[in-house]
Amino acid sequence: MTNNSTSEKRGNFTGKLGFVLAAAGSAVGLGNIWRFPYLAAEYGGGIFLLVYLILAVTLGFALMSAEILIGRKTGLSAIGAFKKLDKRFSFVGILASIVPAIILPYYCVIGGWVAKYIAVFATGKSHAAAGDEYFGNFISGTAQPIGWFLVFLGLTALVVLFGVEKGVERVSKVMMPLLVIMIIGVTVYILCQPGAIEGVKYYLIPDFKHFKATTILAAMGQLFYSMSLAMGIMITYGSYMKKDVNVESSVHNIEIFDTGIAFLAGLMIVPAVTASGADMGKGPGLMFAVLPKVFDGMTGGVVIGLVFFVLVFFAAITSSISLMETVVSIVKDKFKVSRTVSCILVFVLCLVLGIPSALSNGGILSSVKIIGLGFLDFFDFISNSVLMPIVALITCLFIGYFLKPKTLIEEAELEGNKFKQKGLFTVVIKYIAPICIVLILGFSVLEALGVIKV
Ligand code: PFF
Repeated sequence: MTNNSTSEKRGNFTGKLGFVLAAAGSAVGLGNIWRFPYLAAEYGGGIFLLVYLILAVTLGFALMSAEILIGRKTGLSAIGAFKKLDKRFSFVGILASIVPAIILPYYCVIGGWVAKYIAVFATGKSHAAAGDEYFGNFISGTAQPIGWFLVFLGLTALVVLFGVEKGVERVSKVMMPLLVIMIIGVTVYILCQPGAIEGVKYYLIPDFKHFKATTILAAMGQLFYSMSLAMGIMITYGSYMKKDVNVESSVHNIEIFDTGIAFLAGLMIVPAVTASGADMGKGPGLMFAVLPKVFDGMTGGVVIGLVFFVLVFFAAITSSISLMETVVSIVKDKFKVSRTVSCILVFVLCLVLGIPSALSNGGILSSVKIIGLGFLDFFDFISNSVLMPIVALITCLFIGYFLKPKTLIEEAELEGNKFKQKGLFTVVIKYIAPICIVLILGFSVLEALGVIKV
């Protein structure tokens, strides 16, 4: 997606395939490969997977359909779209637009970690990277995490500044299928290793004793993050969609694609944890701690590891470009500045929020805590577990009780298309989503603040 400014003429995706590919390109990123597996490992494996899948086919389906339909109906991005539908709800568009601005800086920190591992494998230091202390030493430094963050942020900013997203997207269309093949190949190798089967059982068999309110919150936040929901993105994508394209089947395709890649990444990393004897609760560093060990034991592991991290890098940079593009457009429209000035402002914002995040995982700022969390985890928590559920909640209440689901169902059924699951859509938007989000958010925030123990 290159531009969501309302002042310029809106191009259209050529058809369903164009739409699905573009939306899936934004959806598939670090969320699938880096974030999903470490959450699955941390929140009980199978039970997390089960909760995630249930949420994906209910809440994820309803919310993604709703956002795309709002965008298509109004032809506008989030801020303009809510304003056009009901002035009293303009604030939802603004709230949704804050989310990408919080995610982008720390997304570039993690992208920097991926870039670092490309360099590690390219310079033949992969054996050292397989050591227990390697990742911890890397992120507890100062110059290294900041340097690699700047490399990733700089590349993203250059692409956005010079408007060459199309070229990157073209390359990434080739990279994505390669990434899937690579993940499958590495997974097969890992599953043949001693100890891996324990991880497979942990990942696939739900164990209800691991179930907590925060499991649902974590799964819900991950769903929003991974499918680029509750942050205005899908509204923008919908605004470029032609009226004759079937929204329901497009949503199913994007969901299957996005969830499929996340599922595979989990099936690769969680068994790698048990096979390598690592700790399930390692958090954001999990992928970087276990995969080098796996590659180290493989014949040709240096080259395979290098190719793997290059492919992950592409998935990450297409997502960070789409995140930055969104924030740049919002700043440009809101503050009436040129694109270049807007790029510079967003770059500075990323520095201000990204540098503390880069230093918060063992670096010099790791002792600074906000509600018990380091900077990176705090930004992650605030966006995924607080702001996005709130945006999703208000969006559902708005559609359910003000705009009415019927309005969006009519939009979905234009040009002879059918909306088969409109019953499910209505029930989720009006009842299930609001009730669940309020309960889960309430319990989890109280738990995070230490008020209750669930
Ligand atoms: N959905 C992406 C991921 O899973 O990595 C993150 C993301 C990318 C969110 C682009 C928003 C966006 F515009």
